[in-house]
Amino acid sequence: MKPLSDAILNSQKSAIRKLFELLIKSSDGISFGIGQPDFTSPDFVNDEIIKALKEHKTQYAPALGLPTLRRVVAQKFQNENNMKWVETENVMITNGGSQALQLCFATLSNPGDEMILSSPNFLSYIYLASYYHLKLVEVPRLENYAPDLEGIRQSITPKTKFIMINSPNNPTGYVYSKKQMDKLVQIVLENDLYLVSDEVYEKFLYNDHIHISPASYDEMAERTLTLNALSKTFGATGLRLGYVSANKKIIGMMEKYGQYTTAGVNHPTQYGAIEALMKGNPDMPQILQSYNKKRLFSLKRLKELQFDTIEPFGAFYIMPRLNPKWDMTSEVFSNELVKEKHVACVPGNGFGSYSNNSLRISYATSDELLEEGFNRIERFLKKKSLI
Ligand SMILES: Cc1ncc(COP(=O)(O)O)c(C=O)c1O
Repeated sequence: MKPLSDAILNSQKSAIRKLFELLIKSSDGISFGIGQPDFTSPDFVNDEIIKALKEHKTQYAPALGLPTLRRVVAQKFQNENNMKWVETENVMITNGGSQALQLCFATLSNPGDEMILSSPNFLSYIYLASYYHLKLVEVPRLENYAPDLEGIRQSITPKTKFIMINSPNNPTGYVYSKKQMDKLVQIVLENDLYLVSDEVYEKFLYNDHIHISPASYDEMAERTLTLNALSKTFGATGLRLGYVSANKKIIGMMEKYGQYTTAGVNHPTQYGAIEALMKGNPDMPQILQSYNKKRLFSLKRLKELQFDTIEPFGAFYIMPRLNPKWDMTSEVFSNELVKEKHVACVPGNGFGSYSNNSLRISYATSDELLEEGFNRIERFLKKKSLI
């Protein structure tokens, strides 16, 4: 038979899903691998979805999304992200942040174009690059996981089309500072590039760190595509509701692409999203307080267990490096850990070419499980005489 798509055939099944499959086999499994918060969507959001269903709002919604929701998203971008230029016509509603990402890649890419990424980074960017026949240029992060902005500048060629950023970051928890964003903006402008900014973790910030949207710089309005979703902020990963803003021409292209691929987003859910984005998540202060406690606890335990740790200031992940003395790749470490102690951590090589010696730990789980998980890691290391 003739060959199938190389890009899809050659992409790996998600390392996270593989871990889950292993973990599911044990009754006492603890997952530090999960990429979703441990809370669920608020009732005031769910009630609106139920109401819309009862009113039989089950027919196609417009491909760009409900006009009221698009207006609410535009206001959110203006008020919360200081993107004063965003109007309803600059917004499209999507099936989660994932479809927003796909639309960015689809509208920006021609085969052979190059995309620059700080590595490690969220895995979908790597495979989307291959599905859209882009050349992926991974620039390793600095020792403290800061983006290497000089390295990014030096990686630009005439074929570079866009830089992809995610701050706060999955998997490192790194948050761009104002100074770093200023410099990135300068690089984008000087080289006539586009910038895609994935802001799904914007609300998960610790120690007075702030979120800066690059599209808040006036001169970036035309060339920045900003995406976000209800998934993380509202504990609503299963609602599949995201949104993206861009210049009018790009949104027009996204509309066409959406018409022929997904034909819109779940109609009743969009009514819930209107409420969600108008009110925000009222529980966020308590959630952040509790996640900060988990963050500090994880950091302390990892240090005690002799990992090489870098304090994260955003999202709900921590990415320690394995102690070089252990002489083990993260893939071997996490496979043995899951098999012997039923604790799942995602190996770093799931996030690019420069993180083979690190693990991603999601601390968005209960305090009890977090404590028990680290105790099991301690027993695992002791049994192997590594500590
Ligand atoms: C950085 C980042 N962007 C986008 C997504 C996808 O979000 P969604 O679940 O809304 O598709 C995720 C999910 O884990 C993520 O971590």
